[in-house]
Formats: sequence, structure tokens, C-alpha cells
Amino acid sequence: MTKVTVLGTGYLGATHAACMAELGHEVLGVDVDAGKIAKLQDGQVPFFEPELEEVLRRNIEAGRLRFSTSYREAAAWGTAHFLCVGTPQKRGEYAADLRYVESVIDELAPHITGPAVIYGKSTVPVGTAARLGDRARALSPAGEQLEVAWNPEFLREGFAIGDTLRPDRLVIGIDPVRPGRAEQLAREIYATALAAETPFLVTDLATAELVKVAANSFLATKISFINAMAELCEAADADVTVLADAIGYDARIGRRFLNAGLGFGGGCLPKDIRAFMARAGELHAHQALTFLREVDNVNMRRRTRMVELTREVFDGSLIGARLAVLGAAFKPDSDDVRDSPALNVAGQLQLQGASVTVYDPHAMDNARALFPTLDYATSVAEACKGADAVLVLTEWQQFRELDPADLTGLVRGNRVLDGRNCLDPQLWSAAGWTYRGLGRH
Ligand code: UDX
Repeated sequence: MTKVTVLGTGYLGATHAACMAELGHEVLGVDVDAGKIAKLQDGQVPFFEPELEEVLRRNIEAGRLRFSTSYREAAAWGTAHFLCVGTPQKRGEYAADLRYVESVIDELAPHITGPAVIYGKSTVPVGTAARLGDRARALSPAGEQLEVAWNPEFLREGFAIGDTLRPDRLVIGIDPVRPGRAEQLAREIYATALAAETPFLVTDLATAELVKVAANSFLATKISFINAMAELCEAADADVTVLADAIGYDARIGRRFLNAGLGFGGGCLPKDIRAFMARAGELHAHQALTFLREVDNVNMRRRTRMVELTREVFDGSLIGARLAVLGAAFKPDSDDVRDSPALNVAGQLQLQGASVTVYDPHAMDNARALFPTLDYATSVAEACKGADAVLVLTEWQQFRELDPADLTGLVRGNRVLDGRNCLDPQLWSAAGWTYRGLGRH
């Protein structure tokens, strides 16, 4: 088993650290945030992710996983270092902010004295890995013995453990000038997945970096494609959910990621397509990605459309309307509210004069911190009490399974607006409700 470190213990890093230990490796997780490290060492996960806490605790107890704030300790501990810090969008620009990635290299490399590999997992603009390699070697007493490889991460929030333990593919980008030990060491670390015949692609650094942004751009495009069809369906009085089922049976198209609704949000897709456009511009290849601007535009229009639809239901004015918003997270099974379409819509509705009460099964604290001016309820029933309309904006299972009969006595107006096309229109109409979805009658 290999001694590995995980640098940065946010969403990606905490999951990666716990999963590497679960695979039997001896893992040290490092972060500059002492509060976060103390929590993790105590077996607490600072965000909601199914199964993660059990995996974390089990491995801390087994002695395979511990946490520290010391880069010196990290350098002394492992020969494989996974770089897992965030690369947020820069303020006021499309480009990615690389300061955290660079600071890990600057803090770690000077302490590395012998052969070691740093595997970057963060999503970065193409060309970053090669630059970080030069920077790390210049700073480290190990010089040429220090390698930087790229091992992009494809995990989805809500499925992070399964996606890490049983990935659908592994990609390792190697510096073609200094191939070194990075491939062999990665094969040892991922031996379990390789034994299960997981595809293992060894590439150059630039291709590995691009794989990640290309995958996310494709997913974003697929979602915006079906949302553009939803706009057409609205104009032509057709039903986008049936259309998606029908085209999805074609195996070349596939039904997954064809759910029309409020569109994509979260910490990855929106910022990744923007950073990709910015990087393409720097490489004088901006024309290749102009379609992503349209993907972004279609996506943002869904939020505006949801607000318009709500206004339509109230005959043009939201002033004084009492609205129950079900869902704040950017998607179900997550407490993440970064660029959440649900919260964005809730905020816009409030700004147009509605009084908005939000309920989410797991994202309440995060939502309150981001949008303190909205009202928050502690249950579906409390949010819906006295409401003139109920808006389902994140498709949590609990909301999909709602029985109109349970809400009928509570609300003031029987109107339901389905921002994720996740309810059965017939069921709600039969119960005497006015049902409106995005891209369907
Ligand atoms: C995404 C990628 O899927 C993952 O591979 C990558 O590593 C990180 O970014 P994540 O952000 O966790 O993962 O969410 P994902 O499940 O991809 O959903 C993204 C957004 O698209 C959500 O807001 C979701 O509601 C929306 N979505 C998804 C749709 O609107 N329609 C769909 O059909 C699917």
C-alpha cells in the first residue's frame, strides 16, 4: 500500500482522502484551514455527501487516515501527493483563479527532498500542469526527481464516494519530456479499479487537462440543448419531456442529462465552461468555443423564464404573492448552493415583490448564509402554509413524491410550478391544482 497525501480537503479532497484510505492506502489530508482539519480529524464532514462520513470515520479508526495543517509533514509523509484545491472563477472575469493551486506548489515543493509525484486533480486551464511542474522543480531540493502529473476528477456531488471508488475511467496525464514514475505509481494506487478493468488512459499533460473541461462542456451542452428544445416546445405547444424520452431511445443520443428545466448550476459546470472560453481566447482558438457562450445564455434564460412563468400565473404582477419555494440546493442529494438556479429564482421573485419562503432538506444553512433576506421554513408544510403557489425548483425525492392532497388544505391557492419537470401533471390537475412546467403544457 502507498503513502499518499491529499492537499486541500474541500469537497473533492475530503472525498479523495477518505476513498484512498478505503482502498487501503495510508493517507494524510492537509489543509490550511485549521478548523476544517480539526472537524475532519474528529470524523465530521463539513458538507452533506451520502456515505462520506461513514467512510471517513471507519478509516480514521482503522489508523489509515489522519489530517494535518503542515506541508512539511506532507512532504515527509508520502511520495504521491494529490492536489485537490479549488479553482474558482475570478471576480469580474471568466478565467479561473489559480492562486490556491499555485500556493500548494509553493508551500509543498520546498520541503520535498527526494523522488515524488504531485498528481493534480483540480480543474485547471490547459497548460497549467506543465507550468506548475517547472515551478515545483525550481523550488524543490529534489529538482528533476519531482514530477507533476495530471489525474482529473469526474466525481458528481451526491455520488462522490461511488464515483471515486468505482470510476468509469481513469486518466493520467504524464509530462512527455520526463515520463518518470508517475504512471507506475498511479497503477499501484488505483490497482483495485484496474483489477476491475476500469479503462486507464495515459495521455500527455495537456490532453488530461482538456479531458475534464471537454467532458463538462459536453454535459452542459446536452442540458442546454434540451432546454433550447423546451423553449421551442413552449412556443409550439409541445411537451419537452416526451420529446426527450423519444430522442433518448436513440443510443447515440441517450436519455441521461436530457432533463429540461431550470438548467445547470453548482460549483463546476458554469465556471468550467467560462474558464474554458477564456483559455481558448488566450490560445487564439476562441472561435472553437463560441457555442459555449450560447450554452451559457440558454442556461441563464431558464431562470428568467421561470420567473416569467410565475408572473404569468399571477396575471402579470407578483406584488403581494406568497410563494413556497421547495429546493435551494443546485441539485438534489447535495447541500451545495453555489450558483443554484433555485435560489437565483427565489431571489428574483422576491425582488419583484413576492414574499418567498424556502425549504430544502439539506441546504438550509448554506442558503440562509447566501440569501439571508429570504424567509426559510423548517418543513414542506410550513413553507406551503398560506401560499398562493408552490414552486418545485430542486427535484429532491421528497418533493417528487408529494401528494397534492397533503398540501390542498394548507395552501391558499392551488397552483404548482414545476421548475424541474419532476411532478406528474395529471396527478396534480386531477387533484384540482393548476400545474405549469417548463417546456410542457
Ligand atoms: C458535474 C459533472 O457531472 C462531474 O462529472 C464533474 O466532476 C463536476 O461537475 P456536479 O456539478 O456534481 O457534477 O453535478 P451534475 O450532476 O453534473 O449536475 C449539474 C447541474 O446540471 C445541476 O444543476 C443539475 O440540476 C443540472 N442538470 C443535470 C439538468 O438541469 N438536467 C439534467 O438532465 C442533468
